[in-house]
Amino acid sequence: MKISVVGTGYVGLVTGTCFAETGNYVTCIDINRGKVDSLRSGKIPIYEPGLEEVVLEARGVNLFFSTEIDKNIAEADIIFVSVNTPTKTFGQGAGRAADLQYWEKTARQILDNSDSPKIIVEKSTVPVRTAVAMERILNSNSKGLSFDVISNPEFLAEGTAIQDLEKPDRVLIGGRETPSGQKAIQSLVDVYAHWVPRERILTTNLWSSELSKLTANAFLAQRISSINAIANLCEKTEADINEVAHAIGTDSRIGPNFLRASVGFGGSCFRKDILNLVYLCDFYGLPEVARYWEQVIKMNEFQEANFVSKMVTAMFNTVAGKRIALFGAAFKAHTSDIRESPALAVCRELVGERAQVVLSDPHALENARQDLGATAEQVIFEPDPYTAAREAHAIAILTEWPQFAELDYQAIYDEMVHPAFIFDGRNILDHRALFETGFNVYAIGKPPLTSFAS
Ligand code: NAD
Ligand code: UGA
Repeated sequence: MKISVVGTGYVGLVTGTCFAETGNYVTCIDINRGKVDSLRSGKIPIYEPGLEEVVLEARGVNLFFSTEIDKNIAEADIIFVSVNTPTKTFGQGAGRAADLQYWEKTARQILDNSDSPKIIVEKSTVPVRTAVAMERILNSNSKGLSFDVISNPEFLAEGTAIQDLEKPDRVLIGGRETPSGQKAIQSLVDVYAHWVPRERILTTNLWSSELSKLTANAFLAQRISSINAIANLCEKTEADINEVAHAIGTDSRIGPNFLRASVGFGGSCFRKDILNLVYLCDFYGLPEVARYWEQVIKMNEFQEANFVSKMVTAMFNTVAGKRIALFGAAFKAHTSDIRESPALAVCRELVGERAQVVLSDPHALENARQDLGATAEQVIFEPDPYTAAREAHAIAILTEWPQFAELDYQAIYDEMVHPAFIFDGRNILDHRALFETGFNVYAIGKPPLTSFAS
């Protein structure tokens, strides 16, 4: 198959590479020339474990990078569209609806540059019924061409993207129930069947497929907000959230995954996709359903803000002028992505409290610096966590990088200002051992371990 992937971000790059790895001839297209030039010269613009090796193996053999949408569209059998679909910041639905301008522009470019029928695959996460608009734009041509739009949402998670694609729980393909829609579905099933067992390739109607993607993200985020809600109650009642999560997770109907209490969920999609779901529910006259999902986001905002409040309260109600080391900038471990990272929300709040913030992360510092904008001038960026913590009053763990659990906390404690505080926003440390070292320890959903008389 000749495949074009329009939009070479996280999803486009990783899925395009996977299609090349499985024997297709793939061109990944992007409007960002810098990104394309860097990929052409073998530099991978994102940190994703295992990605560099596979890109470098296929690059120039059957994986190509280009800014030229016109030429590459004309030659492709299947076009995957994986452009960004961020939350709208203007006009109707601002702050909630998906901004589909990049998607629509791509549809028009495809139309302008096609002289044969094409299969267009929605890889980006889009609102349910987006395919109708795309079909109308594409099939409005005077060239007599017909286009099939099918939905194939992506479920990969950053940090595990390669394994998620190589061994997906399922691949979802939705299309029209017409003969040509079914034929388009079958073409895509054939692409995946090279490495995905047939029983894991689910086919549905277009709308079920589009809506399943938003629903999957909403359910995942809802579990995190649910466990975080209970973590707050644990902190008031001396229950331990890890014990509660384990106890409920062993119920096979609930299951153990996505029950890690934390400072909050981040990433480019959970917030945006739930906001979009909320917008859709309101749009379709279902305000009660909209408010139900909205609460998942409100709980997450509370979790981030409450983490900072707990820090300030514990540190004698002021952090002004105090050096605080933040371990982690990425929104989760094993990625350089900082989009919607709770670590940066905490960083901004602490800068607002006039703390002297030192940010440490193994892969995300440069992205963090850019994202923080003017605030970055008031932040120290320090890759070495030992240096970051030297002479600090407190450490906060904000990303679950495994290396943060392996540090020599006795050595760190010795060089900190005392009383020394540690706030574990990811529950990855040995809290009892830290307390015995001398730290005042505050974790999520657990009673604090402090040397202060209450
Ligand atoms: P991204 O911002 O990393 O990448 C999008 C790319 O599209 C950018 O490089 C941008 O320059 C390019 N682009 C925009 N308009 C273009 C055009 N007209 N022609 C060519 N290129 C164009 O975004 P992402 O994280 O890869 O997400 C893309 C979509 O996939 C979103 O809808 C997102 O919700 C969804 N998604 C993301 C993930 C994830 O883990 N990041 C997982 C599943 C689904
Ligand atoms: C998520 C979904 O897991 C993917 O299936 C989906 O394709 C993707 O969004 C998307 O549509 O973009 P991702 O955001 O990359 O993937 O990462 P997750 O592993 O889901 O983590 C999201 C956030 O939740 C992170 O900040 C993580 O630290 C946090 N989290 C996760 C918790 O706080 N607790 C948990 O138990 C799990």
